[in-house]
Amino acid sequence: SGIHYITHADLSSQQIYNLIVSAIQHKHNVKYLNKQSGQPLSGKTLAVMFSKRSTRTRVATETAVAYLGGQPMFLGSQDIQLGINESLLDTSVVVSSMVDGIMARVGSHSDIETLAKYSTVPVINALSDMYHPTQILADLMTMHEVFGPQPKDESSYVAHLTHPKETLPGLKVAWIGDGNNILHSMLVTFPKLGVHLSVATPKGYDPSKDVVKIAQDEAVKTNTEISFTHDPKEAVKDADVIVTDTWISMGQESEKAKRIKDFAGYQVTSSLAKDGGAKPNWKFLHCLPRKQEEVTDEVFYSPRSVVFQEAENRKWTILSVIDALLVKKSFD
Ligand code: CP
Ligand code: NVA
Repeated sequence: SGIHYITHADLSSQQIYNLIVSAIQHKHNVKYLNKQSGQPLSGKTLAVMFSKRSTRTRVATETAVAYLGGQPMFLGSQDIQLGINESLLDTSVVVSSMVDGIMARVGSHSDIETLAKYSTVPVINALSDMYHPTQILADLMTMHEVFGPQPKDESSYVAHLTHPKETLPGLKVAWIGDGNNILHSMLVTFPKLGVHLSVATPKGYDPSKDVVKIAQDEAVKTNTEISFTHDPKEAVKDADVIVTDTWISMGQESEKAKRIKDFAGYQVTSSLAKDGGAKPNWKFLHCLPRKQEEVTDEVFYSPRSVVFQEAENRKWTILSVIDALLVKKSFD
């Protein structure tokens, strides 16, 4: 059934770097050199099966497939039988018999695993309740752009001149928020690359023990520091990057009132960063969509915030994932 892209726990550090480097090259080629793609996906279709809303992932995917000359076929939960009225096994066998790839946004992570198991074409995880791997590629790409060599003027793009290996290892990221799919993806990715991660979650909102175990086993091998606390101030100490996400992920809407209460003190503010001792040049990341409760406007719309660059980079990183799976047919 070919290769799938489900979680970075399955990829080597070199394969993760390859995806980031390819994304940077695509951005350089398309945005700055105005190059065409050669239409390698001409006549091919990517089924984009989403059971949840999406702005960034959907727009990134559809435009990336179009750029490569292929046809994205968006199938929302109102359109197809995605685990409703038909088993996912049957959906996977049938859809994969007609398309060249499947990109799926699902609830339970086991749904994406089922799709991958029975699909005869590559399957890409566009978010599950456990992992959101394409997001983390964009985060790492953005960190390379921000902490690597800077262009002399705004019109030049220099990130392609150096390898992210020269930028990312040794950076420290502080996660202030929910132990959710975005954090899980950082946990299985960052230790492979030597990116330190300090995590503050409210009590009762810790990340999955299984994911923490994967992260810790990897961190030992690479000498990466992974730490956990319930004190946001402690977590931001010496951070190069502070990152958060919504406190109420898709599907958790009924827990909203309780969550807002339980996350008191977790809003990212400049005083939190200052009092906790973040690095003077700290930057702010957020996968979006964003609500005011988790980060103040003062931080979110400040020059420290690279969230819109991060959002744009979803396109280049998703392009690199689609290119790897459907064109190169390899992560190597
Ligand atoms: N960050 C992200 O995945 O955004 P969307 O839900 O809008 O795709
Ligand atoms: N944690 C969020 C991420 C959205 C991109 C969610 O799962 O809804």
